[in-house]
Amino acid sequence: MTYVLLAILAYLIGSIPSGLIVGKTFYNIDIREHGSGNLGGTNSFRVLGIKAGTVVTLADILKGTLAVLLPIIFSVDASVNALIIGVFAVIGHMYPVFARFKGGKAVATSGGMLLGLSPLLFGIILVSFFLVLYLSKYVSLASMVTGIVAVITSALLQNIGLIIVTTILTIFVIYRHRANIKRIINKTEPKIKWM
Ligand code: G3P
Repeated sequence: MTYVLLAILAYLIGSIPSGLIVGKTFYNIDIREHGSGNLGGTNSFRVLGIKAGTVVTLADILKGTLAVLLPIIFSVDASVNALIIGVFAVIGHMYPVFARFKGGKAVATSGGMLLGLSPLLFGIILVSFFLVLYLSKYVSLASMVTGIVAVITSALLQNIGLIIVTTILTIFVIYRHRANIKRIINKTEPKIKWM
């Protein structure tokens, strides 16, 4: 029962729509009506600027980290269940109950989850993300490639739990980037200009 409650709590934490809160509170802008329409860090950078983008990205990362730490916070022995509980935060981020189930693309919250589970893996995927971003200038491509790098790294670390969870998260990430994949193929995906 405790795990079910923690999973629900993780879903609610993941559902906090940071992009919507920051956009509406400080800029009176609903970022879902601008840019890519995505409720995530990248679109916050795009629509609201660097300060808001940074705050939203960090808040979205924090949601994932907090979710996997819930068993420790509530003193529940749950090394395996922390993985499952974290996945519920990512589901909340993608389909937030507080924002009519129209959320983000799973990237920052998944990253935050992995930060809480394995700082080593997080460090590796951070390097991968910025390397692909530097080479391609596509945040979406960097996000998807980094998901695959996370699965490969988990396999190299021979950590079954991480292999399973990174595979699930990468499927989420790629599924949520369907429109971006089409735009990359059509060469209409916007590139970042600041790198
Ligand atoms: O984290 C989401 C990013 O990979 C793509 O966002 O707004 O360009 O679709 P966006």
